[in-house]
Amino acid sequence: MTKNGICIRTRGLNKSFGSVHAVRDLDLEMKTSSRFGFLGPNGAGKTTTVRILSGLLKQTSGSAEVCGFDVSTDRDQVKTVTGLLPESPGLYSKLSAREFLELIGALNRRSGDSLSWRIDSLLSILGLEGRQDDLLESYSSGMKQKVLVASTLLHEPKLVFLDEPTARLDPSASALVKDLILALAEETETGFFICTHMTDFAEDVCDIIGILNQGRLVTLGAPQDIIERTKTSDLEEAYLKIVGGKIDRKTLLAWR
Ligand SMILES: Nc1ncnc2c1ncn2[C@@H]1O[C@H](COP(=O)(O)OP(=O)(O)O)[C@@H](O)[C@H]1O
Ligand SMILES: [Mg+2]
Repeated sequence: MTKNGICIRTRGLNKSFGSVHAVRDLDLEMKTSSRFGFLGPNGAGKTTTVRILSGLLKQTSGSAEVCGFDVSTDRDQVKTVTGLLPESPGLYSKLSAREFLELIGALNRRSGDSLSWRIDSLLSILGLEGRQDDLLESYSSGMKQKVLVASTLLHEPKLVFLDEPTARLDPSASALVKDLILALAEETETGFFICTHMTDFAEDVCDIIGILNQGRLVTLGAPQDIIERTKTSDLEEAYLKIVGGKIDRKTLLAWR
């Protein structure tokens, strides 16, 4: 289902909302089973790109193939081979982790022993076997996010999009999610396309980084290559040098 080891290929991809040009001439390739970190300040166009690549939004022009399927003509197939954790996912807090995973499995037309085994194996990777029957409302935010990440993997997708998976988590909860993604990457062949503006998270988890600024892909490479090319000491410094520190300070001020 993947062509030449490539699971995402976009050519001249554009998306406009009226006068807002959210994604501009995006040419992107991602290798199968890799972990791609999509970095960029708020409003850069990351979520818009993910929505196009997961078949939820139609591009204005250009083309995109995901796992060999065209996102505009083969939407159902794209949805079958991908998983998506949106920026603000919903979670049924009156269900237990197991019930929630069974519900999401059923929505993806999975049932019976194969779903049950899949849930068992995900719960064991999550380290939640002992708490699987507790209501989600009793979980910490890191544990809830782990369950949500696991729910995107129930239908054994080839590629999962995680949109800001740690944005609302404290450092210890972020560390739980980071460990989970690394464990999943080791135990399955699933590729991860992760939108984030957390450079330390991306440096630890991703083997390739694309930096988007004002809708344009301005940098692409392995974290270490980007650091060397920009003559900086870590990805955060490299990122600030590339997108300009001003944008991020504005973001920080907005959160005060
Ligand atoms: N449905 C929409 N309607 C109008 N403008 C939108 C819509 N979705 C996104 N945008 C605009 O597109 C730009 C990129 O947004 P987004 O993709 O959400 O960025 P990011 O995820 O990098 O923060 C922003 O200017 C945003 O306001
Ligand atoms: Mg976003």
